[in-house]
Amino acid sequence: MEQKVALITGASRGIGKACAQALAQQGFKVAIHYRSQEQQARDVAAALPGAKIFQADLGHEDQCKELVKQVKEAFGRLDVLVNNAGMSVDQLITFAKPSEFDQVLDVNLKSTFNLSKAASRVMIKQKSGCIINMSSVVGYMGNAGQSMYAASKGAITAFTKSIAADLASFGIRANCVAPGFIKTDMTDELPAEAQAAILNKVPLNRLGTPEEVAACVVFLASDGASYITGSTIHVNGGMYPN
Ligand SMILES: NC(=O)c1ccc[n+]([C@@H]2O[C@H](COP(=O)([O-])OP(=O)(O)OC[C@H]3O[C@@H](n4cnc5c(N)ncnc54)[C@H](OP(=O)(O)O)[C@@H]3O)[C@@H](O)[C@H]2O)c1
Repeated sequence: MEQKVALITGASRGIGKACAQALAQQGFKVAIHYRSQEQQARDVAAALPGAKIFQADLGHEDQCKELVKQVKEAFGRLDVLVNNAGMSVDQLITFAKPSEFDQVLDVNLKSTFNLSKAASRVMIKQKSGCIINMSSVVGYMGNAGQSMYAASKGAITAFTKSIAADLASFGIRANCVAPGFIKTDMTDELPAEAQAAILNKVPLNRLGTPEEVAACVVFLASDGASYITGSTIHVNGGMYPN
C-alpha cells in the first residue's frame, strides 16, 4: 500500500512539531509547514524519514492554496491535514483593534477554511481523507483578554462540524482537538501570575505536553477513529467538563 501523507501546519515548533513526529512514527510521510522558523523546520524534518518542509504565511488565501498544491506535487497525495498553525493577540476588548481581530481570524480561522477547502479537492478525488483542526479550551470557556482568539477557536468548532457533514459521503472525516493549557512558546509568553492562575483551574494541576495533544491527533488520523467525525476531543487536564 502507498504510504499515507500528512500535512501539519505550524510544525516548526510546539504542538505541530509533536504532531509531525508522532504521525511520522505511525508511518506517515509528513509535510512540515512553517512560516518563519526555517531552521527549526529543517531540524524537525531531518529526523523524520521522507519528510519535506514547506513555507507559507497562512494569513493569505493564495499561500494556503499554494501550500496544498506544493504538497500534492511533492508527495502525489494528501491523506491527513492538521490545521494546527495559530496565534493570539491578547487584549482587553476595550483596547482591541479591528486590525488585530482581522489578523487573528485570518491566521486561525480563514486559513483553516482555505486549507480545508483546498485539501478537500484532493481528498475527494482519493475518496478518503481526514482533517483535524486545532481548537482550544478557550473557544469553549472564553478567557479574559482573549476575546479575539476565543472567537476564532469557537468558530473552528462550528466550522468543523459543518464540513464533517459536507464531506462524509466522500469518505472524509473532520474533527477538532481542543487543548487546554499546553507547555509551548504560546504559554511560555504568558506572565508568571497568569501561568499560576491557569494552574489553579487545572484539576490535574499541571500544564499538558505537546506530545499529549499529538497522541489524540494520531488517534483521530487512525483507522481506530473511522466512525468519529464532527467531534472534538478535549485535552485539558479536566478543565472543561466534556
Ligand atoms: N499552547 C497551548 O496552550 C494551546 C492551547 C490551546 C490551543 N492551542 C492551539 O494549538 C496550536 C499550536 O499552538 P502552539 O502552542 O504549539 O503554538 P506556537 O508554539 O506559538 O507555534 C505556532 C505555530 O504556528 C505558526 N504560525 C503562526 N502564525 C502563522 C502564520 N501567519 N502563518 C503560518 N504559520 C503561522 C508558527 O510558525 P513559525 O514558528 O514558523 O513562524 C508556529 O509553527 C495553535 O492553533 C494554538 O491556538 C495551543
